[in-house]
Amino acid sequence: MSAKKETTAPDTMKEAMEILAATKKLNADNADLHWLYEQSVQNVEHEVEFIDKVFRKHYGRSPSLLREDFCGTALLCREWIIRRESNTALGVDYDGPTLEWGRVNNLAPLGDRARAVTLIQDDVRKVTEPKAEVLAATNFSWWGFKTRAELKEYFSLCRQSLQDEGLLMLDIYGGPEAQIPQIEEREVEGFDYLWDQDDFNPITGDIRCYIHFRFPNGSQMDEAFKYEWRLWSLPETCDLLEECGFSKVVVYWEGTDEDGEPSGEFKPDRKGDLAPAWVSYIIAYR
Ligand SMILES: C[S@@+](CC[C@H](N)C(=O)[O-])C[C@H]1O[C@@H](n2cnc3c(N)ncnc32)[C@H](O)[C@@H]1O
Repeated sequence: MSAKKETTAPDTMKEAMEILAATKKLNADNADLHWLYEQSVQNVEHEVEFIDKVFRKHYGRSPSLLREDFCGTALLCREWIIRRESNTALGVDYDGPTLEWGRVNNLAPLGDRARAVTLIQDDVRKVTEPKAEVLAATNFSWWGFKTRAELKEYFSLCRQSLQDEGLLMLDIYGGPEAQIPQIEEREVEGFDYLWDQDDFNPITGDIRCYIHFRFPNGSQMDEAFKYEWRLWSLPETCDLLEECGFSKVVVYWEGTDEDGEPSGEFKPDRKGDLAPAWVSYIIAYR
């Protein structure tokens, strides 16, 4: 007799979340915090495509070893090793429970292939080996370094942590709206994502932001994530990277579609445009 699956119960927590989202039954009590974050904030397929493209353009070959700083749940590491059999990844984050969530929910489902990812629980400034071809620090986490001295130390360590043919990828946002306290709402399947720019200090550049989530039954997860950052500008960041010895620093600016909306296509640019709010990538070649 053939073994027949008698239940349609989801195999993984992520599948359970997807079902709850599709049936509009997610709420503040049953939703998983990290899953909500990944769904609403991260687009790792796009980032892996982008990294491959810029690395190939500069070095004429594909990179293999990616290091993801501030890796959280290591979603980018996961996507990186899925992309190519020869790829390996190193994720660094000092938060043990978040790394463990990533091990269970992002890496374990890959079986043996998960061995291609090494997760290190430490401050990103304490790790310089093994030397990576790509070092990615995304979702503005490097803004946690608020003084010039701290950021300079971090960028110098990033450079030391790269192979001769290597690049650092940072994301950055700005524009006049980045300095204005306001809440931006976005619908994601099964819930609403709220980006709350709570406070900005024009003298220090300090910015405090929150992520809140709201569900179809009216329940909310308030202050699910909190960020205390410095809103670094593009010119001061690029200057500092050059000061740290990076040989070439390129800003990839986002284009617009026929309706004038951000297109998701990022190209090297030296002029940009006067968008009230923008997100860009900085690529710094070792
Ligand atoms: C906003 S999450 C980023 C998650 C994911 N990489 C992304 O792109 O969305 C920031 C992460 O950085 C970690 N973190 C902040 N400062 C750190 C530091 N100095 N060293 C290591 N991890 C740090 C936190 O524990 C947290 O998991």
